[in-house]
Amino acid sequence: MNIDLTGAMGLDIMISRMGDIIDAKLAERFGPAGTPPKAKRRIKPATTHDNSRVLVVPDLHVPYNHPDAFSFLVAVRDWLKPTRVICTGDEVDNHAMSFHTSDPDLDSAGPELEKSRAGMAELERHFKQLDLVTSNHGSLSRRKAYEHGIPERLITHYRHTLFGETEDDGTVEYPEDRGAGWWWHDELVIDLPDGRHAVMRHTWGANLKLMAQRNGCCLIQGHHHGLLDVQHAQLARQRIWSLTAGCLVDPECPAMAYGRGNAVQPMIGCAAIIDSEPCAIPMPLDRRGRWTGRLPVVPTA
Ligand SMILES: [Fe+2]
Repeated sequence: MNIDLTGAMGLDIMISRMGDIIDAKLAERFGPAGTPPKAKRRIKPATTHDNSRVLVVPDLHVPYNHPDAFSFLVAVRDWLKPTRVICTGDEVDNHAMSFHTSDPDLDSAGPELEKSRAGMAELERHFKQLDLVTSNHGSLSRRKAYEHGIPERLITHYRHTLFGETEDDGTVEYPEDRGAGWWWHDELVIDLPDGRHAVMRHTWGANLKLMAQRNGCCLIQGHHHGLLDVQHAQLARQRIWSLTAGCLVDPECPAMAYGRGNAVQPMIGCAAIIDSEPCAIPMPLDRRGRWTGRLPVVPTA
């Protein structure tokens, strides 16, 4: 039975307030997410994108990603044949660098970063062109540096951190030109083929539909791991949608232990925007939580 709770009078506002409380709790847990990461600008050249089939890669939290995350994404890619690939952020976890207590049985920051770099190199092999948004985990090293008074000049760019090799003379090499097609944005605006716009941030808040209504445009977000969700709303002049893209984390990993007692557990999957309309693509799981190897039946235009 489907019940549209959000249609009830006043409930949107109540959910929004609950969302604000949840966001405040997340800020408590993850640190000052509002702290400007002061991203060093590497300006993407003006490009006209074909946004007719967009694959949305959700929070991966490498190296604590779901063990089948990459093979699932490759299968979705081969089915969807995306014209563009975007990522909601939290591409890496940076657990050891967290503002909160780190699990002492997990890697320290150095070895963890090497595992993250290996995971990103694999992802980059599958997705040579990727637009990502900055995020509380993905930007953690920048947030930490900012918090402790490290000037911008001493902070490496995301591409350098994930793919670069610094030589003895100080030059930075990128093996196989890794990351040349990856671009990080604080906010990504996507021109949909039907003339509407969708705006992606790592998080807009727990009640994304209400945020979309307030902003008057389609919205995309990650961050809320328990939500793999599409909602629609009719405005006076157009219909809009909101998309929360789920996640591809490993729920069993100790780095994810903070959410284990929650009623809402990570929703494993990804999403797509096909001919301007969003769709959720949950990963079919077996009893052990592993991918069955099949793709769900996804409505296409
Ligand atoms: Fe996340």
